[in-house]
Amino acid sequence: MLITLEGIEGSGKTTQIAHMAGYLREWGRDVVLTREPGGTLLGRQIRAVLLDPENSGMHPVTELLLYAADRAQHVRELIAPMLAAGKTVICDRFCDATTVYQGFARGLEMPLIRQLNEVALGGLLPDVTFLLDLPPKEGLRRAWAQISSGSRPAAETRFESETLVFHEKVRAGYLSLARAFPDRFVVVDASADPEAVKKRILSHLEKIVHTGNPPVPAGH
Ligand code: TMP
Repeated sequence: MLITLEGIEGSGKTTQIAHMAGYLREWGRDVVLTREPGGTLLGRQIRAVLLDPENSGMHPVTELLLYAADRAQHVRELIAPMLAAGKTVICDRFCDATTVYQGFARGLEMPLIRQLNEVALGGLLPDVTFLLDLPPKEGLRRAWAQISSGSRPAAETRFESETLVFHEKVRAGYLSLARAFPDRFVVVDASADPEAVKKRILSHLEKIVHTGNPPVPAGH
């Protein structure tokens, strides 16, 4: 099973992913955590280029191709083999981020994005996508506080440095994708306190764990 998390900067994905992994492991799932960009060795090199604030002159098409390259490698080297081995893969950002950031926010043509996503994904799609939704003003405030405290790398701030209007487009893009694919998306209010967000996510995971082929919980 492939589970993805999406959301604007500062939406708390990292914290929640740790809770999700802990919960699924308790239920005996073999969980692999990964992220985009940067889920492979090659991808980490692409990530450094993509997020370096010095690369402010990067053309949107270049950006799109780099995300697609990262995903093509990630799917083939890591995600598909892990899924084939029966593992539960949780990915911090995936194909929807390209539709939203490069499509809705940068304004690149959707057919081009769809085509590149298809090539990169090779037929794979997430089974469930959690969208952590909150107003960009609050997300950016949290993200910059983490950058100032050193818990988020200052070398990766090219997107945090974008305008509020850009981040509003990202948020609206995610919400419109969630409306278009209601069977796959679970929208969670991430402006609530982290415990409430965790509760909401885990209650959904519970349903997932108990449908299909529920494994026996560890220690039971
Ligand atoms: P992260 O800091 O959550 O790891 O995300 C890295 C940045 O990359 C984030 O600002 C969103 C952006 N991004 C895209 O623009 N397109 C994509 O396809 C992905 C995966 C991320």
